[in-house]
Amino acid sequence: MAEDEIKESSSKKKYELLEDLPGVGPATAQKLKEMGYHTIESLAMTTARELEPAGISEKKALGIIETARSSIGVSFIRADELLKMRKNVLRLTSGSKVVDRLVDGGLETQTITEFYGEFGTGKSQICHQLCVNVQLPPERGGLNGAVLYVDTENTFRTERIVSMSKHLGLDPEQVAKNIIYAEAYTSDHQMFLLDNADEVIKENNIKLIIVDSLTAHFRSEYIGREMLAPRQQRLNKHMHKLIGLARAFNAVAVVTNQVMAKPDVFFGDAVHPIGGHIVGHTSHTRIYLRRASHGPIRIARLVSSPYLPEGEEIFKITENGVEDASEEDKTKPRGR
Ligand code: GTP
Ligand code: MG
Repeated sequence: MAEDEIKESSSKKKYELLEDLPGVGPATAQKLKEMGYHTIESLAMTTARELEPAGISEKKALGIIETARSSIGVSFIRADELLKMRKNVLRLTSGSKVVDRLVDGGLETQTITEFYGEFGTGKSQICHQLCVNVQLPPERGGLNGAVLYVDTENTFRTERIVSMSKHLGLDPEQVAKNIIYAEAYTSDHQMFLLDNADEVIKENNIKLIIVDSLTAHFRSEYIGREMLAPRQQRLNKHMHKLIGLARAFNAVAVVTNQVMAKPDVFFGDAVHPIGGHIVGHTSHTRIYLRRASHGPIRIARLVSSPYLPEGEEIFKITENGVEDASEEDKTKPRGR
């Protein structure tokens, strides 16, 4: 198809299938699908360079992407329109009112929220809780949506979903049905799962995408200094994909991350999250979790956010899930 034909038809027309896009024939559509682009939404969030392996010229790729963008209503936009896009941001409750307040009313759609901290600090528990909360109606802090859960350490437990659902008065079976679960065996597999997730997300009204843990496979597979650059490059690509999905489907993206000891720090927190600058810059909101001196109490610290001040809040993790801590919880001595 001629380039000018693409231009002409790239007005506000709506397209449902890749094959319908001007400039995309059946063979190109097939190649795009093999590369993980099954929907107009995911195509709209890609770059011309990423389409190179499909044998599409840069000029043609730009035309196709532009048409996909205008089809779903995202295009080159002015700042006032950017503000409008921000207005579509929805918020998901963490289960704790004070933690929600820390992030201005809940975890937001269209961006990545990262929870990092040492083992047992509650990263996976929060992920479980979010799986349940996202299914609540908006008036209870949910998004009436389903979940895509990428589990890299085999720590997802349906039993936890059951108890958390019961506590919120939801039917556990129904809640479990709305959690699409995938175990990732390697970092490549983990990337493959997200690269091919767009259709599943669209078909199941998924409003929450979880990767628990984002970095564990990368950390164990890419060892040594010379592997650092390729690891960061892959991680960058993976997170880029995740943001694209979160934006395209107005979904919340949550990742977890472990910490490493900082050998050269004597004051303050002597740990820092894995993944360096790449993960830090791509996670829009980073929350550092740590244990308090007593049992169920946890401390959430907002470490970076594009527009919110840093701060700390106390919450608890119990049989019921993630909740606000009472004054009594906060002062109870350990072990009682
Ligand atoms: P790693 O993945 O190992 O880095 O840790 P994590 O941060 O994901 O920890 P996780 O979310 O798995 O937290 C585990 C902790 O949550 C446990 O040590 C308990 O303190 C708490 N927890 C988990 N399940 C329950 C439960 O059923 N009841 C209660 N009371 N606490 C629980
Ligand atoms: Mg965990």
